Amino acid sequence: MANARITVHTAADIDRIEPEVHGHFSEHLGRCVYEGLWTSDSADEVGFREDVVSLLADLEIPVLRWPGGCFADDYHWEDGVGPQEERPRRRNLFWAQGPEELPEESNAFGTDEFLELCERVGTEPYLAANVGSGSPQEAANWIEYCNYAGDTELADRRRENGHEEPYGVKYWGLGNENWGCGGQMSPEQYAREYRRYATYVGTQSNLMFDHDLELIACGFEGHKWNRRFLEEINQSRWGAEFPLDHLTLHHYYGRTMNIPEADEDQYDQLLVEALEMERHIERMAGAINAVATTRDIGVIIDEWGTWHPEATADNGLEQPGTVLDALSAAAVLDIFNHYSDVVTMSNIAQTVNVLQCLIETDEDDAWARPTYRVFDLYAPHKGSEAVQTSVEAPTRELVDDSEDRELPLVGASASVNGDETYVTVTNLDCREAQTIDVTLEGLDLESKSIETELLFADQDPDLEVDADNADEFAAEELDVSVDSGSLVAELPASTVAGISIQ
Ligand code: AHR
Repeated sequence: MANARITVHTAADIDRIEPEVHGHFSEHLGRCVYEGLWTSDSADEVGFREDVVSLLADLEIPVLRWPGGCFADDYHWEDGVGPQEERPRRRNLFWAQGPEELPEESNAFGTDEFLELCERVGTEPYLAANVGSGSPQEAANWIEYCNYAGDTELADRRRENGHEEPYGVKYWGLGNENWGCGGQMSPEQYAREYRRYATYVGTQSNLMFDHDLELIACGFEGHKWNRRFLEEINQSRWGAEFPLDHLTLHHYYGRTMNIPEADEDQYDQLLVEALEMERHIERMAGAINAVATTRDIGVIIDEWGTWHPEATADNGLEQPGTVLDALSAAAVLDIFNHYSDVVTMSNIAQTVNVLQCLIETDEDDAWARPTYRVFDLYAPHKGSEAVQTSVEAPTRELVDDSEDRELPLVGASASVNGDETYVTVTNLDCREAQTIDVTLEGLDLESKSIETELLFADQDPDLEVDADNADEFAAEELDVSVDSGSLVAELPASTVAGISIQ
């Protein structure tokens, strides 16, 4: 008898899962850039961390957002180009309270270093321009420096700095959390600023580059804020032609619990908070549908993941990498698959050493965290067609929850790519195993080849990864059988499985 019945409606397409949905975010914060991506913040001793580059390249990350975060709205890109020894040292306004040795920004890692990193990793850059304390001209100049092939001072400066050809950066964010650290603006105020920026950047884009830019505005988790923003955007005289391709939201969760001290009831709560991603996406999509009816605007979740109390500005937002966090990432990636018709990108925070990073470093060591394993297991979904998947699973009520919320104990999503159907299943129950029964409509499983992977079978949810145990989190095989036309398996507590059928 199955605890959970999963039905994959193989012919009920939702939309293509954009590979960019598996994107990442890195900020000049704590040890993310300096020590994480780059060996040092000193101008004498510069270089990429090859171990980290190779872990990111292996994962084939599709897009990387930089330089922030709050840092972006106080960053002046010209500080970070040209000869290293001539770059000014500045304060890092938002993350100045970090580890003592990193309160300032050396600018050793700037635009050309970031874009070279992207080339080495094989990923698309996503640059976040300064709206809070910058100017439309500064943003437009940055784009010209990166992307213009002609004969201007800024294009020549890029050539002098070692890059003859334009970089062709496609994704440009105009501002970050402008309702907060990006200038404390009302939605109407940010919309007017956005319109001012997009006017110059958009016009320049039409005239100067042989490829399209995708412009990204920073929204909010709340429906009303996004509606008010979009209503004001609509006042543009360009109407539907006005450049706005994506609207973003940020969703962090787990803020009340340090995992090593938390109990199972709190694990349930964290997972429910993660699943609230669905509500945030629906609200944003609802605002877009209600107001921006004549244009196609994608939803980007350009910062997301766990943020536990251990992660404070004083320790550079570092927190342990646990199985529970990784499990929550799997649940969220399933949601992105269900909403592949609206979600165009996501960027988990943050790539190395900060918050729910995928990679951790300690001096010469670099290792994959459990969340890295989840992204790897979900990789076959990238670029595939998501299909409707229904799950009938037991639920558990949260203890002492004023909203009477419940945790569904099993989650799943599926995608189809040619002859392959790929199904991911999470057992969100941190206490017990769950038996799953998976039916794939229209597929005769007896004639198919089935391959499986299982993560975290023998690990407790609060188990932390470090340099010595990182390999223990690698995937193993899940035992499945075919019974009356369905796949049957038992998922141990707090595990994630990938099942490929072709
Ligand atoms: O990721 C850390 C911070 O969280 C970012 O700088 C900011 O955008 C968000 O509030």
